[in-house]
Amino acid sequence: MTADAPVVRAVNLVKIYQTGGLPVPAVRGVDLTVEAGEFVAIMGPSGSGKSTLVHMLGGLDTRTSGEIWLDGKRADTLSESGWAVLRREKIGFVFQFFNLVANMTVADNVELPALLGGVPPRQARERREYLLGELGLADRAEASPAQLSGGEQQRVALARALANQPRLLLADEPTGNLDSRNTRDVLRLLGKVHGQGQTIVLVTHDARVASMADRVVSLLDGQIVDDGAIPKSRRRPSGAAGDVVELRS
Ligand SMILES: Nc1ncnc2c1ncn2[C@@H]1O[C@H](COP(=O)(O)OP(=O)(O)O)[C@@H](O)[C@H]1O
Ligand SMILES: [Mg+2]
Repeated sequence: MTADAPVVRAVNLVKIYQTGGLPVPAVRGVDLTVEAGEFVAIMGPSGSGKSTLVHMLGGLDTRTSGEIWLDGKRADTLSESGWAVLRREKIGFVFQFFNLVANMTVADNVELPALLGGVPPRQARERREYLLGELGLADRAEASPAQLSGGEQQRVALARALANQPRLLLADEPTGNLDSRNTRDVLRLLGKVHGQGQTIVLVTHDARVASMADRVVSLLDGQIVDDGAIPKSRRRPSGAAGDVVELRS
């Protein structure tokens, strides 16, 4: 691992699903490099391969061919347990389905990854309190996931993903179930952690979310068709995320 290695590098990444004998090409030769501290939004129509791409980058789906490098280390050749260690140490993941542990409280769901990552209990608790507070969930800490709305579960999943201050935050439509007030809270938190240097790769349909990114990568039929920096002057400053509530979606 070198200090200036990109956090993510995908080289000619391909995923072809084989279901019922018919090959379904989901990702068709993606090259993508994400530097430390970058916030990259991935956009594209439904079925364009966004979820498949970020799942592969997090080791949750195997590649058909190509290479994945994380933090300067080859990752696509890791075993499942190797990926599990890498995820625990370096990756925070927000899935489209939130995968909270049903028989644990919200607080424990959020603290667990930090504790597993070796963060001292007191620090894990403080981080959890900070994240739940930022997301308007402070009073839900002792609830169980089943007692939460979909939007609340989604925000808990984001808090959990950030608990460990991971090297990389991967998120698949983290505002997909949120109303504008909760979207604003999520955007404000993403802006804050990005400002603190958090590297983010995030799938979104929402132009307001994408407008906070440094770069927007557009996928179509499993290929990158556009990859452009957002000019700083046009970027939504994180402090202005409060404006979001005024926008119509
Ligand atoms: N587990 C799977 N088995 C077979 N085909 C899949 C599977 N997951 C996704 N696909 C197909 O791969 C393509 C890309 O899907 P996906 O990555 O979910 O797109 P997006 O997230 O952009 O909507 C679609 O054609 C989808 O039907
Ligand atoms: Mg998807």
